[in-house]
Amino acid sequence: MASLSPKLSFLIIVSMASLTISLSLDLPLSYSSVQAEEKSTDFGYFVLSHLWPATSCRQSRHCCPTNACCRGSNAPTEFTIHGLWPNYNDGTWPACCTKKSFDEKEVSTLLGALEKYWPTYGCFPYITCDGSNGSFWAHEWEKHGTCSSPVVWDEYNYFLTTLNLYFKYNVTRILNEEGYVASNTEKYPLGGIISAIQNSFHATPWLVCNHGAIDELRLCFYKDFKPRDCPTESTQNDRVSSGSCPDYVSLPLYVPLGVGNGIAETPIPLVHEAVEEFESM
Ligand SMILES: *[C@@H]1O[C@H](CO)[C@@H](O)[C@H](O)[C@H]1NC(C)=O
Ligand SMILES: *[C@@H]1O[C@H](CO)[C@@H](O)[C@H](O)[C@H]1NC(C)=O
Repeated sequence: MASLSPKLSFLIIVSMASLTISLSLDLPLSYSSVQAEEKSTDFGYFVLSHLWPATSCRQSRHCCPTNACCRGSNAPTEFTIHGLWPNYNDGTWPACCTKKSFDEKEVSTLLGALEKYWPTYGCFPYITCDGSNGSFWAHEWEKHGTCSSPVVWDEYNYFLTTLNLYFKYNVTRILNEEGYVASNTEKYPLGGIISAIQNSFHATPWLVCNHGAIDELRLCFYKDFKPRDCPTESTQNDRVSSGSCPDYVSLPLYVPLGVGNGIAETPIPLVHEAVEEFESM
């Protein structure tokens, strides 16, 4: 800058100032969005939520090209990713913190992994932050991912960070090694499943059940991604909580869709998505 004439320096400063103004005009202008934007940096911890495919598929019972339940022998048989969610310590969470809408091109190098480990089990579109129809990935990024800043700062990093955490703590393997394997006849003590995770992860998970079957398994992390206990029921602002799990739970086997009875003509919304939609209100 020292070699620039005063006039040129002035022009640079003016153009930077107008850039700042136009950037801030791109930010959400409504009061609640601005508030979310401000609050998003001081969320307390992350939740990595996993889905048990067979339980999700029991609720969807409908085939369409996006439904991972309909991949026949390629259907997922291990816990898959639901999302990585920044939460406040009081149990509430920020949502839709910026207007950065999902762009599949940004994660093009991750698509193979996302299809495999972060599939959707439904056919219905997911509601994105501007109220339009989108994919499961768009919903998770726009609603939760945009609030992960500054720890996770863009879409690519959101998906990569989540995949890496998922690979690092393979909850399916942790449970299998303790004898908790998929079965349509066994029921497992909830306390035993929680202990198995505690012993390996060194923190307490949170489980969500649907009709006695494990539906979600959530791990919680500090903002530096060190494991921490998930908050207990009273602070977990959730419609379906661990209270939804009985003392003995099942880990059902995947039953292919489109075979035998029970194929619904219309998609039945997944319970956890009904919850997600409720959350976003
Ligand atoms: C979203 O999808 C649903 C179901 O396919 C459809 O009824 C609705 O009109 C769509 N909404 C928008 C905004 O596209
Ligand atoms: C997790 O562990 C299971 C059981 O050992 C294994 O089949 C699966 O490939 C592992 N998943 C990942 C993502 O590494």
